[in-house]
Amino acid sequence: MILLDGKKTSAEVKAVIKKDVEEFVSKGGKKPHLAAILVGSDGASETYVASKVRSCSEVGFDSTLERMPSQTTEEELLAKIDEFNKNADIDGFIVQLPLPNHIDEQKVTTTIFPEKDVDGFHPVNVGRMALGQPAYISATPYGITQMLEQYKIETSGKHCVVIGRSNIVGSPMSILMAKNSKYANCTVTLTHSRTKNLEEFTKAADIVIVALGKPAFLTGEMIKEGAVVIDVGITRVPDDSKKSGFRIQGDADFKSCAEKASYITPVPGGVGLMTVASLMKNTLAAAKNEIYG
Ligand code: GUN
Repeated sequence: MILLDGKKTSAEVKAVIKKDVEEFVSKGGKKPHLAAILVGSDGASETYVASKVRSCSEVGFDSTLERMPSQTTEEELLAKIDEFNKNADIDGFIVQLPLPNHIDEQKVTTTIFPEKDVDGFHPVNVGRMALGQPAYISATPYGITQMLEQYKIETSGKHCVVIGRSNIVGSPMSILMAKNSKYANCTVTLTHSRTKNLEEFTKAADIVIVALGKPAFLTGEMIKEGAVVIDVGITRVPDDSKKSGFRIQGDADFKSCAEKASYITPVPGGVGLMTVASLMKNTLAAAKNEIYG
């Protein structure tokens, strides 16, 4: 079994970005600038946003973190988005999800200009990605494809089973894995909560991508010998042995899956770090106007 090391791989991706930024700036280009809006103070979101801001400084980007209280109205948030859309110094920005229930996520996503939507959540970017046109690709699916590429995992003609159909991971992931490209070219099955006999699919899969948000859902019994397991889950589960009182648990039961898998991502230290590295990639592309010209 080979561990798909997100720490090492994301550091490699970020080192390339850092070099690229230095070159770009030395030739008179503008330092890339990523902004993030965080509404409320959800513990997990705080952690992710802090990691995004830290990565910006590692690769030589400017960053802005806009904190808004959890009582922020939808109108106030949309006004902030409008401000960032118009701010020429900001190359790309994200609104960290989930948002408080009184705010319509779809409205938020569609208000961000596609040209600044480095999360790749806007329908224009999702549509362009699906059609194989230049687009910001949603950071988690993009990070997973980079991980597969970096480890030179053969994907062509393989059967990839995606578990979970969320807008930000499962759905775009299933589209990307079926593309005619070097990290994809798979036969893809998108499974979800209504899938009957899920095990029949997972046991037949060469690559299983689990993005369900259910801790330790995928067990070794559900996969075949030699499968590649990509674990997108990051749930905080209570753990008295930790100072924080919780630990981060993936959607795969690591121990039993690792016994059968050829490759597996750990949690933490796997996909999550690749997500952040991909966001940096998208932001650099935004600063260089590579997607929208
Ligand atoms: N919440 C969980 N993942 C993501 C992500 O990739 N981007 C944003 N904006 N929010 C998230």
